[in-house]
Amino acid sequence: ARKIIIDTDPGQDDAAAILLALASPEEIEVLGITAVAGNVPLALTKRNARIVCELAGRPDIRVFAGCDKPMNRDLVTAEHVHGKTGLDGPDLPEPTMPLQDAHAVDFLIETLRTEPEKTVTLCALGPLTNLATAFEKAPDIVARVQEIVLMGGGYFEGGNITPSAEFNIYVDPEAAKAVFGAGIPIVMMPLDVTHQLLCLKERVERIDAIGRPAAQAMAAMLRYYERFDIEKYGSDGGPLHDPSVTAYLIRPELFSGRMCNVEIETASELTLGETVIDWWRVTERKQNAMVIGKADADGFFALLTERLARL
Ligand code: BDR
Ligand code: CA
Repeated sequence: ARKIIIDTDPGQDDAAAILLALASPEEIEVLGITAVAGNVPLALTKRNARIVCELAGRPDIRVFAGCDKPMNRDLVTAEHVHGKTGLDGPDLPEPTMPLQDAHAVDFLIETLRTEPEKTVTLCALGPLTNLATAFEKAPDIVARVQEIVLMGGGYFEGGNITPSAEFNIYVDPEAAKAVFGAGIPIVMMPLDVTHQLLCLKERVERIDAIGRPAAQAMAAMLRYYERFDIEKYGSDGGPLHDPSVTAYLIRPELFSGRMCNVEIETASELTLGETVIDWWRVTERKQNAMVIGKADADGFFALLTERLARL
């Protein structure tokens, strides 16, 4: 199984990504979960991460609280999508499993220093503040990361928080710039691919029909979460962003993309946080990320449903 650390700001779609990983022990070993401020403030993301572990029947997973605000900016949150708790939808009990004492950044550093070189993959599902802060604090760990698989950015699809920026990158563009510039192999799941993974009614019904508590809670989260896209855009269902990351680790053949140069806009007021993707390779700039452009949506939802049924 591939060893991963999940860095996350749960969020209903983060919850789906975490449940998918925890339901897939043959492919994925979760070394820990690091919470970051994003969709909702850190006080809620560190709580939500533990709620999701308990939902998966895994109170043994170590959860760490990380940075409570972006590197150089004030926090921007997304309650308009995720509700005031971040996990609105189902009725979920407060978590009873412990939060670890160590700071998430120190856990990242410590783990990358102690695990054999290039055996730990970082899965980033929120703003990249924890990762960039760890790399800044301990530059020696950068070369030890196997790969970063992240949800963030977008190009042909435009942005979802401003016309040109996707939420995770927009919230902490300086952190994103540091991560994309670090020289670590990156797989990027932009909006262009996550907008292919729509929570259509029948897909959510199939998850609900599993009939077990984790799957039913997930279905309630997806129904809450998709309302935003249905009401605002008249779409058939909300896009399921973050589980593309953990699905990629389990079934990479569901996805295809190409190596590109990706740069992050950090100066412009108008396009702050834009991911400038050289999809057509019109520059000589270094190809620093595998940008995923297509996903097999039916295959993805079949995998998610099959795995949720195991919990
Ligand atoms: C990303 O932003 C958050 O709202 C979601 O959890 C996802 O990580 C999508 O832009
Ligand atoms: Ca997220």
